[in-house]
Formats: sequence, structure tokens, C-alpha cells
Amino acid sequence: MKFYVETFGCQMNVADSQEMGRRLRGRGFSPTAVAAEADVILVNTCTVRQHAEHKALSYLGRLAGWKTSSVKRCLILAGCAAERIKDTVQRRFPQVSVVVGAKSIAQFDEILDAALPDLGYDAPRESLDAWGWMEGADEAHPDDSVTAFVTLMRGCNFSCSYCIVPAVRGRESYRPAAGLLAEVSAKALRGQSEVLLLGQTVNSYRPALPNPAPGGRDVADFADLLRAVGNLPGVRRVRFMSPHPFYVNDRFIAALAETPTICPHLHLPVQSGSDAVLGRMRRNYSRGEYLAKAAALRRAVPGMSLTTDFIVGFPGETEADFAETLSLSREADFDGAYCFKYSPRPGTGAAALPDDVSTEVKEERLARLLEETEARSRLKAQSLVGTVHEVLIEAVRTEGGIYRLEGRTAHNRKLFVEGAVPAPGTYIRARVSAADGKTLLGTPCEAACLS
Ligand code: 5AD
Ligand code: SF4
Repeated sequence: MKFYVETFGCQMNVADSQEMGRRLRGRGFSPTAVAAEADVILVNTCTVRQHAEHKALSYLGRLAGWKTSSVKRCLILAGCAAERIKDTVQRRFPQVSVVVGAKSIAQFDEILDAALPDLGYDAPRESLDAWGWMEGADEAHPDDSVTAFVTLMRGCNFSCSYCIVPAVRGRESYRPAAGLLAEVSAKALRGQSEVLLLGQTVNSYRPALPNPAPGGRDVADFADLLRAVGNLPGVRRVRFMSPHPFYVNDRFIAALAETPTICPHLHLPVQSGSDAVLGRMRRNYSRGEYLAKAAALRRAVPGMSLTTDFIVGFPGETEADFAETLSLSREADFDGAYCFKYSPRPGTGAAALPDDVSTEVKEERLARLLEETEARSRLKAQSLVGTVHEVLIEAVRTEGGIYRLEGRTAHNRKLFVEGAVPAPGTYIRARVSAADGKTLLGTPCEAACLS
């Protein structure tokens, strides 16, 4: 019996999909890359903006034919949009067999226990912990990424006024440090030497004490966890997504500066450069505080690359507010940015405010912001020409008989190398020969392979 997974949205969703996949494997299902030949299709959805939800639900709509054929099949709707619309799913999408809202991912097994027998499946299951992990079991369940995705917290205790995440993912819960470290360690020793630690506001991590890590010290907060993960045998690169500026403090910055395996890249969403807008967004920091923290990070970690998220056209955003966003983008000197038009989400604080910036103005501001951030990103790529980087190879392709390796620098820049043939998961050193827009082209250095 086979299952197919389609994931929309952020990397948290990717990690949730992997976790649900492990649980399906634990019941004897095997993964397939071809939806049409699956017995179970899992659609993991996003609702952060209306457009994202629409994309996920249109995909679901297209599965109606697959489900109504005479064969025994199970369609699972999971994730953030599932949580938001769970009361109307059966009416709107009768093809859905099982709903697993974002708040219920940890109960995936119990939900399947209740639903699968009615659908004619009754395979026994392995018992994984609430975070989808069982020590020793993962050997047989590799995911196909060179990076280990590891969730360390769920939910969000902030209440940014535009954001639907707290409503659909609930309050924060923290994964115990011991199981988390065991998972990272097992995956690193199996060859996933890069780990991506995931949480909605990953640096608010505060696990219950006591929880002695290897070496006997308790993990009290995210700074402690970074040090513990960064020093595990086999771990070569530590990344994390997404930190919240509010929890960027001295302990956090010191952990980054003092742990060589932590990559010198931070995705630190700012959303706006205007204090008035940040206040209405309820972001819990001012423009000045954000810039001071960005500067402190850059002082502590030389060459640190900073990327961010922006929202344009938030209710009441004036041309002067937007000018502050543009100037913050210049001052913070971001390496890259994701820019979004404000999208009102039902039930959020901002949805009660008039959505008074017209679509044309939103689009025009988005275009101006993209011009600023993209030009800066291209300029940064250009400035790297001639420098040498360690590159983790993620994929190998052949084009016209030439091998083309695709990898990432520690700073999280995509880099393509031609000519060498190391496999995904290995590291090479490469000199940047040119920049193609935001991505880098490189040539392998002599004594190419480091691992
Ligand atoms: N409208 C537009 N963008 C949003 N984001 C979150 N909620 C909204 C919304 N209602 C953006 C933020 C966040 C990113 C994941 O999505 O920039 O950091
Ligand atoms: Fe949403 Fe704000 Fe929480 Fe991020 S910190 S998930 S933007 S409420």
C-alpha cells in the first residue's frame, strides 16, 4: 500500500509532512512520488495568506475524481487551512476522508486509529513519540533530503494582528531536549550533517527542566539548545527557522558567535520599517530595536547574512510609513527578502481594521520594495565573486554530459558548480566565478572533496 504527500506552505509544514509520513510508514504504507498510484494521499495545507489557502484547496478539489473511483482510497486533509475550515470540510469537500488540523498533528496516530478501520485499513502501527520520533527506528525511514528537518516547538504565543498562525496552530509547546538531541544525533551519524531546527518562533524555545543534555548541563533556552546541537558528533551545519526579533538577546547572540557549526545566516522577519505600523501589527519591537539587534548580530558574527520578510499595504500604511520600510531595508542591508501584500485573515485583529490600502497601491509598493531588495541581493552576489566557500551539495544533475552540482554556502546562497561529481550530502570547496542574478556559479578548488 502506498501513500503520496503534497505539501503547501512553510518549512514547518515540510517537517510536519515528514513526521506524518513516518507515522504512515510505521503502519506499513510505503511512499510513492506518483499521486495516481497512491492508496492514501495526504495534502498538507497553508492558510497564512488567502492566496496560499486557495492554492492548497484547489489542489484538493482536483483530487475529487481520484477519490470517487471504485478503488479503496483515503484522502487526508492536514495542516493550517484544514484547521481553519475543519467544520465545513465535509460539506465543501466530500472527497476528504480524514481531517488533521494543525493543532492535531501530534495526535495523527490516534486520528488514524479511529478513521482507518472504517475505510478498510487495519494495519498495526509502531508507536512514535508525540514528535514523530522513535529512537533506533529512523534507520529504516530515511527522508530524501541532505538536511535533517527537526521540529522543536509548535504554536506561537505572539499575537501579531495580521497573523492567523496563533489561531490555527495554538499556544507554544516545547519538545523535550533529550529526544530532540537524540533525533539530531542519530540523523547526523546517518549522514544528515546539516540540521534545520524548526519552530514558529524558534528562539522562544523554553523546555521544562530538568533536562540534562550530554555533558550533564540543563537546556534552559534556545541558546543552550544551539550549543548542545552544535556540538553533537557528526553535526556540521546548524540552521534554524524562524527566530523572532523579540528573543534575539545577548545569550542567543553569544551562542551564535561561539558555536562554529551554526551557519552565519539568520532569517529575521521585520515586516515593516515604520514604528506606527509595527505598533498596529503588535510586533513587540520598534524599528530602532530591530536595527540595533541586527547590528549586534553583525558585530558578533562577521560576515553574517541577514534575510527577512516584509508585508506592504497593512491597514493605514501611508506613503511615509512605506518610505520607512524602504529605508530600513537599506539600513539593515539584507541579503534577501520575501515581500508580501497584506492579506486580511478572518478572525485576526487586523481583519477588524479597514483594508484601506488599494490593490494598486499595494502592488506598486510591492514592486518598489522588490526592486530595492532584489537589487541589493544581486549586488551582494556580485561582491562574492572570487571568494571561496564550503558548499553542501544538495542535488546532482547532468546536462549534455556535464555534471552540474547544486548546493548551498553556509551563508545560505545557492551555488552551482560544474565538472565535479560528489554525491548529495558531501561538501566541496568552490571559488565563485560569477553571479547569475542572486545565485552563484563556482568552480571546484583543488583537493575538492572535504568529506
Ligand atoms: N498578509 C500578508 N503576509 C502575511 N504574512 C503572515 N500573515 C500575513 C498576512 N495576513 C507573512 C509575514 C510572515 C510570512 C511567513 O508571511 O511576512 O513573516
Ligand atoms: Fe504570526 Fe507573529 Fe506568531 Fe510569527 S510571531 S507566527 S507573524 S503571530
